[in-house]
Amino acid sequence: MKAYQIKPQVYWVGAIDWSLRTFHGYVTDRGSSYNAYLIIDEKITLIDNVKSYLVEEMMARIASVIDPSQIEIIISNHGEPDHSGSIKELIKLAPKAKIYAQAPNGVKILQATYGDLPIVPVKNGEQLKIGKRTLSFYHAPMVHWPDNMVVYDQEDKILFSNDIFGQHMASSERFDGDLPLEMILFEAKKYYANIVLPYTKQAARIFAAAKELDIKMIATSHGIIWRDHLPEIFQLYEYLTQSQKQTKAVVVYDTMWQSTEKIAVEIAETFSELAIPVRLYNINDTDASNIMTEIIDAKYLAVGSSTINNNMLPTIAGFLCYLKGLAPVGLSSFAFGSYGWGGQSIAQIEEQLDTLGFKRLMPGIRINYVPKPEDLKQIHDDIAQALHQAKTV
Ligand code: FEO
Repeated sequence: MKAYQIKPQVYWVGAIDWSLRTFHGYVTDRGSSYNAYLIIDEKITLIDNVKSYLVEEMMARIASVIDPSQIEIIISNHGEPDHSGSIKELIKLAPKAKIYAQAPNGVKILQATYGDLPIVPVKNGEQLKIGKRTLSFYHAPMVHWPDNMVVYDQEDKILFSNDIFGQHMASSERFDGDLPLEMILFEAKKYYANIVLPYTKQAARIFAAAKELDIKMIATSHGIIWRDHLPEIFQLYEYLTQSQKQTKAVVVYDTMWQSTEKIAVEIAETFSELAIPVRLYNINDTDASNIMTEIIDAKYLAVGSSTINNNMLPTIAGFLCYLKGLAPVGLSSFAFGSYGWGGQSIAQIEEQLDTLGFKRLMPGIRINYVPKPEDLKQIHDDIAQALHQAKTV
């Protein structure tokens, strides 16, 4: 295991989690990486660390450059255990190091998680001279926990951005220019949709501040480092932090005996005929985190479920719970479903969509048992009329 030089005297010393497939509900099809950075200056500095089970990988990479006991400064940009999980082991191997963490939340989180540690609280805007380099700390609360910070290295013009601009992606490549741009932008969008989205206001504030800095490299805490495609990642964050929308519909459903599925297909077909691009998902086939990546910039959302034992199907209840936590904005929505007797699922879904503050595009579609051709025609006509009334087509 070797360190990877990203600038003279600045090294990536993180760990690659090739087999990670879920990050508390976020399906990480491409794995992830936990990026840590070593700066060789008068005071040897480590920025962030890695999950506990990958500590040996990080230590080996550090040891390929210096004796870890020489580290004097450990910056903890974020106390979530994917970036702090090795801190106890690290402090044993670097006994003269002090840990710099955001005051007060970073200090509190590290102490609550790991007990007594030699922590130096850091205020917003504080600077730290580590030799020829000066590091500036900017608090980034709630992007993604209350303690997040980013660090700007004025000398190298690197922004150590922690979770912001990250992507869950394992790769042997370290820079954005070494992988297909479309793929890494997709992963950055997916990351935003599933991690950053509820904190868009805070992300917009940090993004506005970042644009004022002279940045030549963004060293994230997950995935690749942005260097060759800075305009593209900035453009994506501009788009996402402004909650911009595409004329696009997303249809999500689960079905017991394919009747709700027939309705879902008719809804998707109708949007398509009306020249509105549509994405259709059976919740059993596609995980919610990939669906969120489409919902984040969609204008329309239709959610459907059969009724089972007076309720919506648990898969759709779980999806709505996930959706509620991420709180996307600016959608027009409606519910649909087939039922035999009670038919409660449609009203239950509508209630959840209302709670999210979405506009109701039209009343819920309720079909008793199997939809007949005339039912499907009615669905088509009702959607067309609702869109016409909304003056969107
Ligand atoms: Fe990658 Fe919020 O930790």
